[in-house]
Amino acid sequence: MERFRVVGGARLAGEVRVTGAKNSVLKLMAASLLAEGTTTLTDVPAILDTEIMSELLRRLGCAVDYDLPTATARITVPEMPGHEADYDLVRRMRASINVLGPLLARCGEARVARPGGDNIGSRPLDFHLAGLTKLGAEIESEHGYVIARAPGGLTGATIWLDFPSVGATENLLMAAVLAKGTTLIDNAAREPEIVDLCLMLEQMGAQIGGAGTSMLEINGVDRLSPTTHDAIPDRILAGTWAFAAAMTRGDVVVRNAHAEHIEIALDKLVTTGAQVDWATDGFRVRMDRRPKAIDAVTLPYPGLATDLLPMVLALNSIAEGAAMVTENVFESRFMFVDELARLGADVRTDGHHAVVRGRERLSGAPVRGHDIRAGAGLVVAGLVAEGITTVSDAFHVDRGYPGFAEQLRSLGADVTRERDDDLFAP
Ligand code: UD1
Repeated sequence: MERFRVVGGARLAGEVRVTGAKNSVLKLMAASLLAEGTTTLTDVPAILDTEIMSELLRRLGCAVDYDLPTATARITVPEMPGHEADYDLVRRMRASINVLGPLLARCGEARVARPGGDNIGSRPLDFHLAGLTKLGAEIESEHGYVIARAPGGLTGATIWLDFPSVGATENLLMAAVLAKGTTLIDNAAREPEIVDLCLMLEQMGAQIGGAGTSMLEINGVDRLSPTTHDAIPDRILAGTWAFAAAMTRGDVVVRNAHAEHIEIALDKLVTTGAQVDWATDGFRVRMDRRPKAIDAVTLPYPGLATDLLPMVLALNSIAEGAAMVTENVFESRFMFVDELARLGADVRTDGHHAVVRGRERLSGAPVRGHDIRAGAGLVVAGLVAEGITTVSDAFHVDRGYPGFAEQLRSLGADVTRERDDDLFAP
């Protein structure tokens, strides 16, 4: 077990490059299952989640080769991959469920462990399963596994999602590309990562209309071919750096970022008093004062990303004034608030609303990050706290932030990793 040790009082300054998006790459890796042969993905971040997905693909019979210096993953898929994803991997990373659609489409059968809930709230699969049933799959649940069968192949259908779920849209999309006939996915998620997946599937030979809108139209094809694809930059990493720069009254240039993918977040930072300049390959955030508090509401894309909620709360905790922050996607994101309160933040929650009253400064303390984004948010909060903050369970942050401590150090912060000898840690 490791934890971050953060010395408060940093001012971040310099340049940082964002890698390919975790939330895209994991689905691109799953999509490689749709074609026999070698698919090459570039700008694949060296994080724990891509390692877990690589292991999952290996157990399905694929060869996965990752070259760290070039951040390239080569995935060679056999003619008939295995069709079972075990609980020991699925429980470690919920995105494993994204192999369900491609395996069903490719093998006519899939047996994937149910991921269960996690630290940001209950995360059901009903939209995934109802949609696959519409495409003609027979679905059973047995001994903790979802078993889906479509021996005669899947057939196109019209699917309405109750909520624009990212994972369900992706799973259904990856199933529909090899189904007979046309599939419509109405109220589809519009996240940039879905557009990226559509692009890769199109390069593989899929026929998809409406990428980036809430209505996807997919005309099924008989087979797909492997491809080479460069993952889109990670907008959540970009947003994290933007907030960290503003909170520490710093000056950070973020490269390889699509500012338009976090337009609302950057606009919020302008409201706090930051200067944000867009460039062709990224943006620059400068701040020379205490930030002003900002109200915020998380929503599916193009709304403010729920994954940036910890950053919004952390910024407001040291801002001038009070703010109301509303979380609309995951009910347990506010678990983060209790940890932030240990650093002295004044936050009250009621249901999915939080009222944050800004304090002049936070005060360093030992805290625990319960998920990827909460862990990163606490490290950044530690930068603006007096004294030392330790953030336990660094492995959560490792799931999504490649070399986080090194990158923070390159911007002038004093952040290191150390052993966490908490014998009673879960
Ligand atoms: C993905 C992202 C995650 C991000 C989230 C929302 C990955 C690996 N993770 O998660 O970082 O925070 O999108 O942008 O890409 N829901 C149901 N039934 C379902 C599916 C979802 O009720 O069958 C609900 C969920 O409980 C949640 C909401 O829909 O309240 C959104 O979830 P979803 O968009 O599916 O998130 P993920 O794809 O799991």
